[in-house]
Amino acid sequence: MNRRQLLAALPGAAMTALPLVAEAQTVERTLKGLASAKGLLYGAAVANWQSDRDALLRRTFSRQCAAVVPEWEMKWGIIEGTRGQRNYSAPDRIVSFASSHRLAVRGHPAIWHRNLPRWVDGALKTEGETVIVEHIRDLLTHYKGKITSWDIVNEAIEPKDGQPDSLRNSVFLRHLGPDYIARCFEIAAQADPGIQAFYNEYGLYHNDAPDTARRAAVLKLLAKLKSQGAPIYGLGIQGHLTVGRPFNPSTFASFLREVAALGLKIMITELDIDDRRLTQTISERDRLVAEMATQFLTVALDERAVEGLLTWGLSDKYSWLNSTTNQTRTDGTMNRCLPYDEKFDRKPFWFALADAFNRAPRR
Ligand code: G3I
Repeated sequence: MNRRQLLAALPGAAMTALPLVAEAQTVERTLKGLASAKGLLYGAAVANWQSDRDALLRRTFSRQCAAVVPEWEMKWGIIEGTRGQRNYSAPDRIVSFASSHRLAVRGHPAIWHRNLPRWVDGALKTEGETVIVEHIRDLLTHYKGKITSWDIVNEAIEPKDGQPDSLRNSVFLRHLGPDYIARCFEIAAQADPGIQAFYNEYGLYHNDAPDTARRAAVLKLLAKLKSQGAPIYGLGIQGHLTVGRPFNPSTFASFLREVAALGLKIMITELDIDDRRLTQTISERDRLVAEMATQFLTVALDERAVEGLLTWGLSDKYSWLNSTTNQTRTDGTMNRCLPYDEKFDRKPFWFALADAFNRAPRR
């Protein structure tokens, strides 16, 4: 006799059963459950300052997520403000939060032009590649056996910088030359041969000039990395979408196909859906956010090379788009960009995610 039959056999079972059966259905219909039923991963980003204070956030992570990515703590400037004095206590807390909630951890980011320690520019100028070798080696060795999926290089493309191949004019490009990207993947593989090394990028989804240019540049970079034999596993497509910017399903689908044709896997690594341009009612805004989620996820999850997705947080309450330093709406309401609202009620975005996992082809 299974749980449902047992409940049905109890006196007054109808009322008793409903909440438990409903609870049973809630447990079954979790984002991680629906994703894993199709061989997909679902997770989200978190920062210590959020999980420290919010038991509901921790519980929602535990129920809904199979993975977590540090939103802030694993960035170079947080770990090694003073050269040679590495302090992993902040990212270690995310890793222990993950293990206590049985979550996988994504490493993010090993090499990024932002949040660098102040000393890095000068050190690169005088010592060159040694600087990134020491950082990548120490970071990946520290997390060996705890983190498999890594954003090894983050956001190295910026067409507006006018550099050859639309590379970002970063301290790394200036001091190490364009092959620093391939070298980062080689150094990472030497540090931990067991990782899945991703190149992670934003602005690859909308059907407008900036994203069209970025898609072309990223494809060119990935093809070059493959021709150089760089040990790259996949492309991280961040997924910071904006309602009101154009999205063409067939354009995005062919981009995914071209990435997969290079022999690469794909993760949607930082999904959120910015509604700053919308002036409608809350429920209409939520409907439009969910509609864009459905359009985007239908294409993304139809591509077998896509192995899963992480949203850049769970609740609007903690989104970077609502942080004090990044207020994206001027009408006093929150940007409703994530699956849960500030009270952790599921929004239409949540159901769009659930339905997309439900409709996705099994891996
Ligand atoms: O927590 C400290 C606080 O103690 C301190 O008083 C305060 C002083 O400014 O800073 C707080 O840290 C902030 C941190 O977010 C908290 O999570 C930093 O100022 C702020 O710069 C940092 O912003 C993060 C940003 O990356 C820069 O690292 C955002 O939360 C994070 O969402 C954003 O994430 C990036 C991805 O890593 C890469 N892709 C784009 C994405 C959005 O920009």
